[in-house]
Amino acid sequence: MDMFLKDKVVVVTGAGSGIGAATARTFAEEGAKVVVADFVEETAAKVAGEIAGNGGAAVPFRVDVRVEAEAQAMVDFAVATYGGLDVLVNNAGKGMLGTVETAVESEWNDIVAVSLNGTFLCSKYAIPVMRARGGGAIVNTASNISMAMAIKDRAAYVAAKGAVSALTRSMALDFAADNIRVNSVAPGVIWSNYFDVMLGQVADPEAFKEGLRARAPTHRWGTPQEIANAIVWLASERASYATGSMMTVDGGSSIW
Ligand SMILES: NC(=O)c1ccc[n+]([C@@H]2O[C@H](COP(=O)([O-])OP(=O)(O)OC[C@H]3O[C@@H](n4cnc5c(N)ncnc54)[C@H](O)[C@@H]3O)[C@@H](O)[C@H]2O)c1
Repeated sequence: MDMFLKDKVVVVTGAGSGIGAATARTFAEEGAKVVVADFVEETAAKVAGEIAGNGGAAVPFRVDVRVEAEAQAMVDFAVATYGGLDVLVNNAGKGMLGTVETAVESEWNDIVAVSLNGTFLCSKYAIPVMRARGGGAIVNTASNISMAMAIKDRAAYVAAKGAVSALTRSMALDFAADNIRVNSVAPGVIWSNYFDVMLGQVADPEAFKEGLRARAPTHRWGTPQEIANAIVWLASERASYATGSMMTVDGGSSIW
């Protein structure tokens, strides 16, 4: 697979686990130089170490995307380490059970801070560096519930991901003239640590799992690799005319 990504400098947030880890690995397989950024230092180091062990170029970076100075430091680190920045994947995110009635305000704010504010803050510092290089690509991890959908008991998550999708369109417009493409990927149910955590919070884990399978006509959940493939394509020159788009990768969940 030649996706024109050789020697491109890529930052992936939330790259210590799940979709982000698969994305970091896939970029490295395409020859990119990857900053594996995550809130959890150990998992970022583990993923970067695995990539380097397989002959890829990757370095870990500990970041809290909710904090502006840390988002800026992450971009500075990419520039200092690899000489610039071509691709940013705003993938860090987390889920929370709750309706607007049951959600606690601090937890609500946290969900929005990671997914939405994190996308804003990391992009804010990445864009000038990309512009100086003549362009770049940003891919935001939204969700298939960013469309005309919702899931019960996930009010903050649904709201935050809807906003990520809207922000993607806004950024695509604002930076099209700078040759910076901005797209989002909209996963359906992808088994990862996110669902491991939820599994511990539900009364009937088996019924929970079957409910997840039943959401898609393909009657299965997806893998982090299946989302990574879409993210890498959107970031590559193969997607040179795609900007402001949301690519749904959900086993057909949103059409049934
Ligand atoms: N798994 C799914 O079914 C699914 C569906 C739609 C969208 N998504 C989205 O995909 C993205 C990746 O999710 P995943 O399923 O791989 O989950 P995951 O929990 O395995 O990975 C999320 C990563 O983000 C990191 N993170 C959390 N807060 C952070 C912060 N403040 N700063 C930096 N990193 C932080 C975590 O440490 C973790 O490594 C998320 O944005 C999620 O909302 C997932």
